[in-house]
Amino acid sequence: MPFQIPRGTQDLLPGETEKWQHVEQVVRSLCGRYGYEEIRTPIFEHTELFLRGVGDTTDIVQKEMYTFEDKGGRALTLRPEGTAPVARAFVEHKLYGSPNQPVKLYYTGPMFRYERPESGRFRQFVQFGVEVLGSSDPAVDAEVIALAMHIYNELGLQHIRLVINSLGDLDSRRAHREALVRHFESRIHELCEDCQARLQTNPLRILDCKKDRGHELMATAPSILDYLNDESRAYFEKVKHYLAVLDIPFVIDSRLVRGLDYYNHTTFEIMSDLEGFGAGATLCGGGRYNGLVQEIGGPETPGIGFALSIERLLAALEAEGGELPVRRGLDCYVVAVGEQAKTEAVRLVYELRRAGLRVDQDYLGRKMKAQLKAADRLGASFVAMIGDEELESGAATVKDMASGEQMKVPFGELAHVLAKRTGREE
Ligand code: HAM
Repeated sequence: MPFQIPRGTQDLLPGETEKWQHVEQVVRSLCGRYGYEEIRTPIFEHTELFLRGVGDTTDIVQKEMYTFEDKGGRALTLRPEGTAPVARAFVEHKLYGSPNQPVKLYYTGPMFRYERPESGRFRQFVQFGVEVLGSSDPAVDAEVIALAMHIYNELGLQHIRLVINSLGDLDSRRAHREALVRHFESRIHELCEDCQARLQTNPLRILDCKKDRGHELMATAPSILDYLNDESRAYFEKVKHYLAVLDIPFVIDSRLVRGLDYYNHTTFEIMSDLEGFGAGATLCGGGRYNGLVQEIGGPETPGIGFALSIERLLAALEAEGGELPVRRGLDCYVVAVGEQAKTEAVRLVYELRRAGLRVDQDYLGRKMKAQLKAADRLGASFVAMIGDEELESGAATVKDMASGEQMKVPFGELAHVLAKRTGREE
């Protein structure tokens, strides 16, 4: 094969793209219900944004970014995530000055991470995400989590689990950080090289190490929840209270630290409970990032959001045997026999399409029988046949493919009759 698709990417072919469209439609409609508006930012940004935003000691920045220099010598990076770009746009367009506060945004589009491709892990994947900027009301944390859960429920996913944690405010994090360093310091050589490096740069990330997950030091590590100061604890209590009010079940995992540096207070993930999901089990991740906007040069602004990948959502749905109500198929296939009939078919197909129907015709010069077969394969609800007799009478022979019923319908009335029978608007 001369050319193959790059590793970790995928082509979505017809049959698959309908599922994506369905998911996107559900997501957009739910965002509308919750009062979120769409934002679109570029696929690439200045590299510096992610160094500052995501954190230069994170795996994403250290190992996974697609960074390149453009012809003007600028360092640019294909976005690995959407939060830093949204925060940048929020500052750049002074959305903090908008009369509508908090600012509630959603986005969907491709993200890029140079990861080792395995199930559920792509190098180009599509995230859907939301960000709420400008409120530190714990009810917003609950709303954001509720929206994520609502999306999965709406799409029919059953076996999911919501895991939450709090990283507390800066003071709590600092106290916890010191405790972590004390805990790991004397025996850090027992852990992997990455962990050894993390001890000074980002000790919280040690807890997220995949290699040393089973090490005894991990199980006995100090829990962030024991280091929350009063304010942070009260905040977390409120978030849990609102989740209970919404009847959203959750489990608390003090080890949920997330892979990006900007988080504080609430963090959460939604996992698939099905076995054998491996790296793809985390369907959705998010949390609060009250310092991010300031970090990238804006005014002090609290924020919270989440992102989920559509690849993992669809994989989980498939693993559960869930079906999306995806509609394929034509309303009508126009079968023409003879040159003059063909001309009438070309005209009629256009007319029916203009009337809002899904219509097609033969372009391979096939015989009538083969055209009927094509109609069947394309899932046409109706077939409209045109031959000499129909041309003479000015009426097509229309067949209802489900019932087999046949009728004559004048060309001029075809759009109306089909629209009525298929339930489409005229
Ligand atoms: P994240 O946890 O890095 O967070 O990614 C969020 C979700 O994106 C994951 O739970 C997973 O579903 C999906 N994902 C990540 N990497 C891959 C991959 N290589 N292949 C397929 N899916 C993947 C963020 O990106 C944050 N920006 C989320 C956020 C928004 N926090 C606050 N606001």
